Amino acid sequence: MRFSGILLMLLCALGSAAQTPAPDASAQEAAKQAKEKQEGRDPQADDGIPIDNDLVKQQCGACHRSDDKGRMSRISYRRTTPEGWQQTIKRMVALNGVELKPEDARAIVKYLSGRLGLAPEEARPGMFESERRMIEYKYAADADTERTCNRCHSFGRVLLQRRTKQEWELLVAMHRGYYPLTDFQAFRRMGPPQTQPGPDGRPPDNRHPMEKALAHLSGAFPMKTAEWAAWTAAQPSARLEGKWILSGNEAGKGPFFGEVTVRRNDSVAAGDEFLTEIRYTFARSGQTVSRSGKSILYAGFQWRGRSSAGGADELREVLLVERNRREMSGRWFSGAYDERGLDVRLVRAGSDVLITGVGREALKTGSEKLVIPVHGANFPGGLTPRDVDFGPGVTVNRVLEAKPGSFQAEVSVAANAVVGRRDLAVAGVVKESAVVVFDKIDGLKVRPQAGMARVGGVAFPKQFQQFEAFGFHNGPDGKPDTKDDLDLGVMDVQWSIEEFTATFGDNDKEFVGQIDAGGLFTPAIDGPNPKRNNNANNFGDVWVVATLPNGDRPLRARAHLLVTVPLYMKWDQPEVSK
Ligand code: HEC
Ligand code: HEC
Repeated sequence: MRFSGILLMLLCALGSAAQTPAPDASAQEAAKQAKEKQEGRDPQADDGIPIDNDLVKQQCGACHRSDDKGRMSRISYRRTTPEGWQQTIKRMVALNGVELKPEDARAIVKYLSGRLGLAPEEARPGMFESERRMIEYKYAADADTERTCNRCHSFGRVLLQRRTKQEWELLVAMHRGYYPLTDFQAFRRMGPPQTQPGPDGRPPDNRHPMEKALAHLSGAFPMKTAEWAAWTAAQPSARLEGKWILSGNEAGKGPFFGEVTVRRNDSVAAGDEFLTEIRYTFARSGQTVSRSGKSILYAGFQWRGRSSAGGADELREVLLVERNRREMSGRWFSGAYDERGLDVRLVRAGSDVLITGVGREALKTGSEKLVIPVHGANFPGGLTPRDVDFGPGVTVNRVLEAKPGSFQAEVSVAANAVVGRRDLAVAGVVKESAVVVFDKIDGLKVRPQAGMARVGGVAFPKQFQQFEAFGFHNGPDGKPDTKDDLDLGVMDVQWSIEEFTATFGDNDKEFVGQIDAGGLFTPAIDGPNPKRNNNANNFGDVWVVATLPNGDRPLRARAHLLVTVPLYMKWDQPEVSK
């Protein structure tokens, strides 16, 4: 298909009135669609969802025509997340000349994310994308499609779309129309067609990668699904007001525990926007943080918010609310590249005893008077050592500082206690694998194993990288890197940087940046550096090394760190949390 053909296809698909069409253009278009349907060419043409919102009809209707069932061209035939809708609308503004007031854009995103959203089961596998986690994702279902579609953006963006077959085709056409390089980079098979059967004896598959991808995507991510039908039928209410018990972890700072009070934002009639008061304490440092925030619940389960501590240190919030409305979890994050993140879990405060976690996880054999902070809710008054159980070999001597939301257990660990994970029981309620008993630290591992940072601070912002070192016990088999290894949690190590020798006379270590005592790597500034060969930028590869004194047997572990240039183009979509 030639370039002009692609654009023509896009415009035809709109059934647009904006291009001053011939008076009978819509009638012609309708007749064409009816004929196509009759011929069964687009069997999913009926799967569109009608739009019953005046603002959408007003603002989008000039180009996206409604049919006699209220279905608007393009818009009614795909479903996605709030971020997905926002991205499309941004393109309408940037490339298609749409003018929208910010409050109208927000209202449209909210309507479309509810009316044409995803069910929780559909959104969950792609939560890493909404949560902006930098993870190595593997799409197991179809490696070819993954390769075709993850060259320029994460495959998560694809996972979070549901479309009719025709809409998948038009999406590919949009890429080819606006970004003709996609053909060379990914969509078309270059080189001569295969003529010989493959190793499996089957005839050669000479389809272009985009044709294979389309065949897969229209089957795997259709517009109409049982999950979405069930979710829209159930229409769960947005009642999230009340007190929630918070627990979480921030890389570099460790576990934290606290509370979130959620109130309805009464200035919004729909009852799906909230105000939050958040308070938590880091178990390791004792630092207490108070924040207040605002949030919107999209599609009945997609929590998007932001909070700040007295106007500073803003964090965005992306959480998935469970169907039972008693639990939500996800990520709070910040940073120019969304690289700083807190994993969080909120459980509705009820009247039952709840254990959210402990402030110290690894218990060494032979320890005396070890103090373990325990966090949760509704711990009964007058708690005694008999009410607290860490399993065999761990004796609870005393319960200290008992409050409804926390207490401290002072324990002794027998010298011959069996090594392994233990459940914690408090007043009959169990938290599985809450602690681990160990006799020695066999090894150390740095996470992430492959880190990335970006120079910045002059023309572009810096991307930071936090490292952590975890202690390991080899487990019953005595061998490292096997299934029975025991993770002993974060260790207090010394950090340093060593050269990753990739070229002769490599000296990146001198230029890329610094790691602090807490394992946080801060990259150097961007731009050419006259002190380097060829005025190079401060990029490079290094090893990040963790060292643990560990008595007379010091342990060492390292991770690879790539310090690279800024990302000059970004696909950030932060507004949906406003
Ligand atoms: C001035 C004309 C115009 C207006 C107004 C307009 N659009 Fe579009 N829209 C287009 C064109 C042209 C395309 C096809 C090219 C593209 O995808 O960018 C399109 C494509 C789309 C698509 C398909 C995108 C995809 O991912 O495949 C969606 C969805 C959409 N528009 C939604 C909207 C919404 C929502 C509004 C109202 C806020 C809107 N449009 C207003 C011109 C318009
Ligand atoms: C050559 C780079 C490239 C490749 C390869 C690529 N994309 Fe994209 N894709 C983009 C760019 C650039 C945008 C941003 C358009 C915009 O600003 O809205 C985009 C946007 C999207 C969007 C959001 C569209 C919307 O609704 O606004 C989806 C969904 C998507 N791509 C899916 C895919 C799929 C599926 C494939 C594989 C068949 C693919 N992409 C391959 C570059 C690419």
